Amino acid sequence: MMIFPISFIFFLTLSSSYASVQDFCVADYTAPQGPAGYSCKIPANITVDDFVYTGLGVAANTSNINNVGITPAFSAQFPGLNGLGLSLLRADFAVGGVSPIHVHRGASELILVVEGTIIAGFIDSNNKVYLKSLKKGDTMILPQGLLHFQKNGGDTPALLFAAFNSENPGVQLLEIALFQSDFPTELIAQTTLLDTAQIKKLKGLLGGTN
Ligand SMILES: *[C@@H]1O[C@H](CO)[C@@H](O)[C@H](O)[C@H]1NC(C)=O
Ligand SMILES: *[C@@H]1O[C@H](CO)[C@@H](O)[C@H](O)[C@H]1NC(C)=O
Repeated sequence: MMIFPISFIFFLTLSSSYASVQDFCVADYTAPQGPAGYSCKIPANITVDDFVYTGLGVAANTSNINNVGITPAFSAQFPGLNGLGLSLLRADFAVGGVSPIHVHRGASELILVVEGTIIAGFIDSNNKVYLKSLKKGDTMILPQGLLHFQKNGGDTPALLFAAFNSENPGVQLLEIALFQSDFPTELIAQTTLLDTAQIKKLKGLLGGTN
């Protein structure tokens, strides 16, 4: 018969009573948010549903100017992701749908085409353009911080899922930043070389002022 030293038994007892290391930090939407993300829910208030997100099975409404519907499953929608450094979204593209030129400064984006045809591309810091037509089952990586887009490249609806290596990738759309803001038209003209009439037209379309 094996005799365990008393200190070993003592260690086992001790380690089970210290089992509550912080395994995760489920987002507490009622507490203030800091630069590192949400505060953590107290363990007693966490349930399995904090680790489940059921919104990605449903097609989003694509009746908008871009004919695209985006359903994010980021930490703001999916509390269990908080602090874990990854997230997902679903993008539904009607025929003609476009996800306009944008950047995610916080994450690379790995897209997977599930229906239809998607044309995706990005532009690197040397202004080299990388473009590809992707069909069902194809995947493409869009590296962090670079301008990129996707569009429906076919004549049927298209669907993709995208994974990000951040629970809060952030997004900045170029056309929204320029033409849905109060950035003065004259300064936009001077800083982009676009002509004033075109800027005014786009501000009219997107709701920009000044
Ligand atoms: C835990 O949940 C209860 C019930 O929803 C709520 O009243 C309480 O404020 C929560 N506690 C904390 C510390 O968030
Ligand atoms: C989709 O969005 C449009 C524009 O907001 C709206 O008029 C329409 O009712 C929505 N369709 C559905 C099925 O919710």
